[in-house]
Amino acid sequence: MQVKVEQGCIGCGLCVSICPAVFKMGENETAVVACQPAGANVDDAENAASQCPVGVIKTED
Ligand code: F3S
Repeated sequence: MQVKVEQGCIGCGLCVSICPAVFKMGENETAVVACQPAGANVDDAENAASQCPVGVIKTED
């Protein structure tokens, strides 16, 4: 699975809290993908995507 953070992140940090192996805060207080999810991180990354309050985390198989 591949994930990306599209424009519009409001920097709430929820994705980093849920899945710090995949998401980190980048420049401008917006989240970026640090590492594509694999193994046990896939479920956490999907969870983060579904809970992002502005829906900017996109996943594709
Ligand atoms: Fe941004 Fe959504 Fe994460 S608002 S910090 S991409 S949970």
